[in-house]
Amino acid sequence: MHAMQYPSAGHPDSIVAVDVPKPNLSSTQLLVKVAASSVNPVDWKLRRMQSMFYRPVTFPSIPGSDLSGEVSAVGMAVRGFKLGDRVFAMTPVTTGGANAEFCAVDETMAAHAPSNVPLQASAAIPLAGLTALQSLRDLGGLVSGQHVLIVGASGGVGHFAVQIAKSYGAHVTAVCGPRHVEMVRALGADAVIDYTRQSDFRGDSPYELVFDTAVRTPLKEFLRVMAPAGVYVSTLPDVPRIVAATFFPLLSRRRVRFSRVRPRGSDLEVLRTLCDAGKLKPTIDKTFTLDDLGAAHTYSQQGHAGGKILILNY
Ligand SMILES: NC(=O)c1ccc[n+]([C@@H]2O[C@H](COP(=O)([O-])OP(=O)(O)OC[C@H]3O[C@@H](n4cnc5c(N)ncnc54)[C@H](OP(=O)(O)O)[C@@H]3O)[C@@H](O)[C@H]2O)c1
Repeated sequence: MHAMQYPSAGHPDSIVAVDVPKPNLSSTQLLVKVAASSVNPVDWKLRRMQSMFYRPVTFPSIPGSDLSGEVSAVGMAVRGFKLGDRVFAMTPVTTGGANAEFCAVDETMAAHAPSNVPLQASAAIPLAGLTALQSLRDLGGLVSGQHVLIVGASGGVGHFAVQIAKSYGAHVTAVCGPRHVEMVRALGADAVIDYTRQSDFRGDSPYELVFDTAVRTPLKEFLRVMAPAGVYVSTLPDVPRIVAATFFPLLSRRRVRFSRVRPRGSDLEVLRTLCDAGKLKPTIDKTFTLDDLGAAHTYSQQGHAGGKILILNY
C-alpha cells in the first residue's frame, strides 16, 4: 500500500512516499481504507523527538493518528462494525499509521462517522475533538452556566473546545489572534479577546474554568481572573504549571491539570452525536494531498492554523 514514512527523527523533508505491506490485523481491529487523515502538532513533535508526554516512536514511522474511511476488513472478535461501515478513529499517537492507504485500528478507538459531516472532513475531528471534550468534561468538570476562558480558541483543539463548551451551556470567552476573531465568534463564543491587543483576560465574571491550548502566557495572569475554586487545564505542562499542580491542593481550592488525550471510541460517539445535532463541526484551514504531508507538517509547525489541517489520502 501507499504510505508516507520518515526513517528517523528529522526535518519535514525526511517524510517520503513508500510502498509497504498492508498492516496485519489483530482479532479486535478494523482495517480501514483511509479516505482522509489530519496533522496534529504531536505528529511533528514526535518526528522531531520533542514530545514531553510520549516515549519516542520506533523508526521507520508512518505518522498520523486521525483518520476517516470505510471498513475493508474486520478481526474475528469485532462486534460493532462490519465491512463497508463509514468510520472515524484515533490511533495511539506513538502508533500513528493514519497517513497511509490503509490503517489498522482497535475497535475501541473507532466510531461510526457523523452523518452530516463529509466523510473526509470527519478525519479532522478525533484527536483535537477528544482533547477538547476530555479536557473540559473530565479535567475541568464543565457544567452549564459556568464562565469558561478558552485560550488558543482558533486552533485545532480550541475551535472544538469553543463549540463543546457552548453545547454544555457555558458562557465562553475566547482568546485568539486578529485573523481568527470572526471565525471564533461564528463558532459561538460570547466574547472574543485578541491577544495582540489585550493582555488582560478579565471577563464579566471570574472564570470557573480556563482551558489553555496556547500556553504562552504566565499562569499568574490566569490566576488573576479565575474564581476561588476555578480549574486551569493546560494541553502542555511547563515547570511553573507542574509546581502549581503539585502544591495548589495544599494551599488553595484552585486546581491546575494537564490534558492527555485518550483514543476512546465511546467519546468519539459523544462527538458524533454533537455533530449530528448540529452543535459541532470541524473548520478546515488547509487541505493537502497525502504526498504533500511534509508541507502540511511545515504549515502546522508555524503554529497559526485556523481550525484543522486535512490530508486527503486518495
Ligand atoms: N496533551 C495533549 O493530550 C494534547 C492534545 C492535543 C494537543 N496538544 C497540544 O496543544 C497545543 C495546541 O494544539 P492544536 O492542535 O490546537 O494546535 P494548532 O491547531 O496548531 O493551533 C494553534 C492555535 O494557537 C493560536 N495561538 C498562537 N499563539 C497564541 C497566543 N499567544 N494566544 C492565543 N492563541 C494563540 C493560533 O492562532 P493565531 O494564528 O490566531 O495566533 C492557532 O490557531 C499544541 O502544543 C499541541 O501539541 C496536547
